[in-house]
Amino acid sequence: MAQSVKGTRDLFGNELEWFQRIEDTARRAFHRHGYSEIRTPILEEIEVFKRSVGESSDIVHKEMYDFKDKGDRHVAMRPENTAGVVRAVIQHQMLATSDPQLLYYIGPMFRYERMQAGRYRQFWQIGAESFQVSTPESEAESLVMLYDFLKELGLTQLTFSINSVGTPECRPAFHEAFRAFFKTREEQFCADCHRRIAENPLRVLDCKNERCQAALEGHPVLVDYLDEASRAHHERLKEILGALGIPFVENPRLVRGLDYYTRTAFEVLSSDLGAQSALLGGGRYDGLVKQLGGPQVAAFGWSIGLDRLAMLMQQLHGNAPRKPAPILIPLGASATLKAIQLARACWAQGLDLVLETRGANLKKALTTANRVGAPLALILGDGELEQGVVAVKDLAAGTQETWNLAEVPAKLSATRA
Ligand code: HAM
Repeated sequence: MAQSVKGTRDLFGNELEWFQRIEDTARRAFHRHGYSEIRTPILEEIEVFKRSVGESSDIVHKEMYDFKDKGDRHVAMRPENTAGVVRAVIQHQMLATSDPQLLYYIGPMFRYERMQAGRYRQFWQIGAESFQVSTPESEAESLVMLYDFLKELGLTQLTFSINSVGTPECRPAFHEAFRAFFKTREEQFCADCHRRIAENPLRVLDCKNERCQAALEGHPVLVDYLDEASRAHHERLKEILGALGIPFVENPRLVRGLDYYTRTAFEVLSSDLGAQSALLGGGRYDGLVKQLGGPQVAAFGWSIGLDRLAMLMQQLHGNAPRKPAPILIPLGASATLKAIQLARACWAQGLDLVLETRGANLKKALTTANRVGAPLALILGDGELEQGVVAVKDLAAGTQETWNLAEVPAKLSATRA
């Protein structure tokens, strides 16, 4: 029997209900803040990711699903969506004026990763990207939206971990100091870090190897190499977050696994389930639009993994609250036709009602109704049809009453209020 591909899974039932609740909460937050949705293709030319996420990043280097299509085009299934959104805003000239562009997306991403709890090869992200926004205040706006959205989901133990990775102009001096530091203890670093120090020294700070993290003790920190404007930007962001009561810590090793960040880089840590772990990440990427062929434009964004967030919701709150619909059970051919008409009248008024269409006898239909947790069974047999009524069984209480057919929509509506 065929199985889903390793690292992918089917979403249904309770897990999907959490996905939907999270997505609804996120959409409401985005719309409150004036963000509009964008949907970009899953397939992009591979260059879109090579030129943005970076060839030295693990995501491009090791984890990308890329292949030649039948027309010999080298394409990749998006490992993230920032690059695709940037490609789209350039292609559609959405940055022709200096107006801010506030965009959000919800969709699947693909990374060929080692399997662990909450990490998949097809996973889902919710993300926000804003363009033509250069101030620390604009970052605070996006971070407040994010923080309030997570609070609305019931997360309480949240901390922002922030850093400034500076600009390409101030990085060479840092790279020089960092390479000199690396040289004094290079035998303690892993082979990957030896590759990274040549390609992109910042990546060494991000190494997951414990020995490398220990060897980094006392390393030069980026914030000491910032130009004056980047330093002021960083200080102002911290001042605003403090004034808004958003908890944060500074983490000089936070560089993130993607190459496009400038100045602010951040993650959100949650200890809602005990051990602290990163829920999401993002930052500023002022050079990326130009790098992909557009104008010089400031930009900022973040994305959160939906899979782990849904798992967290399940562990914190249990099953997603759901309200099964009442069931309408017709008994016999003429009752069935009447039942379809009655159900349509209810559906037209926006009411939830499941129609029993199997031609099942009453016992079988009631067994199903109980199994799915229907609150009411509306039973329409020949006797009821003759009298113009329906028998209504409250399945939890075990009581029964009779409603006139004409008043069914109003009565149903009252029970659902
Ligand atoms: P990222 O840190 O690579 O950033 O991914 C963001 C989030 O996606 C992670 O914090 C995690 O929750 C989730 N995630 C990543 N890989 C997996 C996986 N294999 N399984 C489950 N969840 C995963 C970005 O993607 C950037 N585009 C963020 C950004 C937006 N920066 C600026 N704008």
